[in-house]
Order: sequence, then C-alpha cells, then structure tokens
Amino acid sequence: MMFKSLPFRPVLLATSTALLGLLVAITSAAAQDHVGQYEQADIEFGASLYNANCTRCHGEAGTEIAGTDLASGQYARAESDQELMRLIRTGIQGTAMPPNDFNQSELTGIVSYLRSMRDFDLGEVRLGDQTRGERLFNGKGACATCHRVRGQGPRTAPDLTDIGSIRTAATLQAALLDPTGTMISVNRPVRAVLGDGTLVSGRRLNEDTYSIQLIDQDERLRSLEKASLRELTALTTSPMPPASDALDEQEVADVLAYLLTLQGLE
Ligand code: HEC
Ligand code: HEC
Repeated sequence: MMFKSLPFRPVLLATSTALLGLLVAITSAAAQDHVGQYEQADIEFGASLYNANCTRCHGEAGTEIAGTDLASGQYARAESDQELMRLIRTGIQGTAMPPNDFNQSELTGIVSYLRSMRDFDLGEVRLGDQTRGERLFNGKGACATCHRVRGQGPRTAPDLTDIGSIRTAATLQAALLDPTGTMISVNRPVRAVLGDGTLVSGRRLNEDTYSIQLIDQDERLRSLEKASLRELTALTTSPMPPASDALDEQEVADVLAYLLTLQGLE
C-alpha cells in the first residue's frame, strides 16, 4: 500500500460502555453510508427498466411530471433508498403513480439509476486540450494543491492517478462543476471529536464497524476507535470549490480532457 511510508499514529482511547449507544448509532449511520455507492451494472440495468416502465409518464429526463424531478436525487415522498424502493413497489395511492411488481435486484437497479440519473443526463460533455489542461491543473486551477497524481501532491483529497479509468467524462464534468452535489459517499469528509474533545477532520480511507482510518488535516494517517469518539460525522458539503470559480468554460473542458488521460500508473 502507498500509505506505508506515512507516519502512523494510532489514537487508542479506552472504550466506555456509556458510549455504546452512540456506537450503535454510528454503526447504523455508517452502514447506510455505504448504500451511497452504486454499481455501474445496476445503474445500466436500472436505466433499461426505467426506459421500459417509467418514461411514458416521467419522461426520459425524469421531469415530465410537474413538481417531480426524478433526476434531482431528492424526493418529496422518500428519503432513503429503502423508502424509495417501497414507493416504487407500492405506487402512490390516489395518484397516477402505479404499483410495480419488481423483484429486489430490479428495485436495486432502478434506485441506482434514479440516484445517478443526473450524471446520465448532462447532455453534452465538452472536452478541450489535455496539454493545456495539465498546465491548468498544476497552475491556475490550483487542483494540485489538494490532489495527488502519480505520487506528486498532497493526500488530503482523493488521489486522481486513475480517475480517467474509473469515471466517465460526464461524471467527471459534473464533479468539477458541482463538487457538493455529486460527492460520492466514500469521499465525504469526516469530522471526529475524540474523547478529550480534540477535533480531527480528514478524508476516510477505510471503515469497519469498530474503527475508521483517515488522513487528517496534517496528512497523517490516523486510526480511530469508534467507541472512543464523542462524535463522528460525514459531511455533506465538499471542501472542493467548483472548478468554474477559477476557470472559464474552455479551461474546464481542458482540465476534463487532462483528467481522462489519467489512467493509472504507467
Ligand atoms: C402512469 C404514470 C406513471 C408511471 C408509469 C410512473 N409514475 Fe412515478 N409518478 C407518477 C405521478 C403522477 C407521480 C406524482 C405523484 C404525486 O406526488 O402527486 C409520481 C411520483 C413518483 C415518485 C415520487 C417523487 C417524489 O418527489 O416523491 C417516484 C420516485 C416515482 N414516481 C418513480 C417512478 C418510477 C421509478 C417509475 C417506473 C418504474 C414510475 N414512477 C412510473 C406517475 C407515474
Ligand atoms: C481545496 C481542495 C481542493 C481543490 C482546490 C480541488 N479539489 Fe477536487 N476534491 C477535493 C476533495 C476534498 C474531494 C472529495 C470530495 C468531493 O468529491 O467533492 C475532491 C473531489 C474531486 C473529484 C472527484 C473524485 C472522485 O472520486 O470522483 C475530482 C475529479 C476532482 N476533485 C478534481 C479536481 C480538479 C480538476 C480540481 C482543479 C480544477 C480540483 N479538484 C480542485 C479537494 C479539492
């Protein structure tokens, strides 16, 4: 692992049974958190089900019914994925929204697609010049002040070395223009309050039921015992400014072209 060379300073604090209730709360929140990542295969399966069953009312973009924007990722009548699945299965009584006889994997597909529709629906992706993009990445765009590429740069933001091979152009364009709106749950910054009140914030690397490993604000790798924490929160606002703050439209297209060339270590 690339993090081996980092100074490792585990924070071990005594487990207090008084905090068990908190542990349970954190654990279930963390479990839900993982629901935020959808598999490409589920999304594609869901897209075909959506086109066959939902477009006649909701339209391809999910906006045909007044007051209902299925691509927004937020629904008035359903918050969690579970609620959304239930709604799709039962329909909405007293409205034209019909019940559907889908099995679990079909429901997973549809929900994965609904939550990702926005990315599918970006319309045109603009690609510029990759050489200019690389210069902007390291210069005017200030991307390299947060992101690491092929061993260069800080570890506080996700390593982008292979981002061009794991994300589509449309997803990357959305990530650049709307970091908060498109932030995937593994990338949500974490805020932890230790038993003694110290605040640790950083980027999550690993997490299981009992512990969480993160890179803190000073780029140190830390391992925290969940039971010893007073608070553990995953933030929903991205620390990344929209690329359009520093760059014009052409320059964003240039940076996007550069990101697509990042296909891992050569
Ligand atoms: C016959 C028309 C029709 C079909 C087909 C249909 N819907 Fe709907 N749907 C509606 C209507 C109308 C509403 C709005 C009900 C209301 O809130 O008044 C709705 C609402 C919804 C909502 C709730 C939105 C919110 O903001 O709470 C979701 C989610 C939804 N539909 C998903 C789907 C999915 C997924 C499919 C395909 C499997 C589908 N619908 C098929 C008519 C339809
Ligand atoms: C202040 C630090 C900061 C700056 C400056 C910054 N980013 Fe980010 N970026 C982050 C953080 C933190 C995340 C993870 C949270 C998120 O997804 O929004 C992120 C996420 C991303 C992602 C999504 C990664 C994924 O896994 O999908 C991409 C792509 C990206 N940044 C590219 C850029 C580019 C290109 C620039 C320059 C135009 C830039 N960033 C500038 C901090 C930064």
